[in-house]
Amino acid sequence: MADNTKQNLLFKNLLASLFEESDRDGSWQKRFTQYNTLMAYYKCAMMEVETKFNVLNQEYSIQYDRNPINSIRTRLKSLESITEKLEKRNIPFSLESLEKNLNDVAGIRVICSFQQDVYTLADALLSQDDITLLERKDYIANPKSNGYRSLHLIVSVPIFLVREKRYMRVEIQLRTIAMDSWASLEHQLRYKKDFEFTEEMVNDLYYCSQLSASLDEKMDKLRNAVNPEHKKSNP
Ligand code: GTP
Ligand code: MG
Repeated sequence: MADNTKQNLLFKNLLASLFEESDRDGSWQKRFTQYNTLMAYYKCAMMEVETKFNVLNQEYSIQYDRNPINSIRTRLKSLESITEKLEKRNIPFSLESLEKNLNDVAGIRVICSFQQDVYTLADALLSQDDITLLERKDYIANPKSNGYRSLHLIVSVPIFLVREKRYMRVEIQLRTIAMDSWASLEHQLRYKKDFEFTEEMVNDLYYCSQLSASLDEKMDKLRNAVNPEHKKSNP
């Protein structure tokens, strides 16, 4: 079987599982359209939030002559990861349930220059009147036990369609360059799931995250020394 055909079959099977309960009679084409439509809504919401961050970045670059955002990455969760998560969490398989229970189908990662920028940008976004905060996890103030740091927000944002206004959820991860480099490397190391980390390796990873935290702290201090005015207007 050609790889393409195999992939198609896998996709069809996964997709079929999402419709088992609610739509046994639906044709493959109809399911595909329904699924694609929902994913397009998530993509629109993601674009909406990405634009909001780009606008904030633009305003800052005019006002303060520097960019608080280093880069932005977006991703839509694949059908494979969606079904995996539903299964792992024992959540019913259907499009409605997916929309109700999963917060991270649309994900956006904002890599900031300085740690203070993370909070300034988050506050600026959350003060916008079409954004509703559903969940906030501050892993910078309270890092995870392995040392992971980032600010996570789950927000609801409206998208305006031809005949309706629809609210979609988006997961936002804000982090500095240092936090991102630690998380990316840790993720790569953890990827080999059959490898058991020794206690020493776990401690080393944690130590590296502390180094990255003190790097962020020192950089923030340097920035405030270079531009004390900025500190005053953006506590
Ligand atoms: P998920 O099932 O992973 O979505 O967990 P959750 O609902 O408890 O969400 P949480 O906000 O804790 O983490 C969500 C996302 O943050 C993950 O999908 C990763 O992208 C990132 N993340 C969380 N913890 C870690 C970590 O220890 N290491 C790395 N590299 N990334 C992490
Ligand atoms: Mg996730």
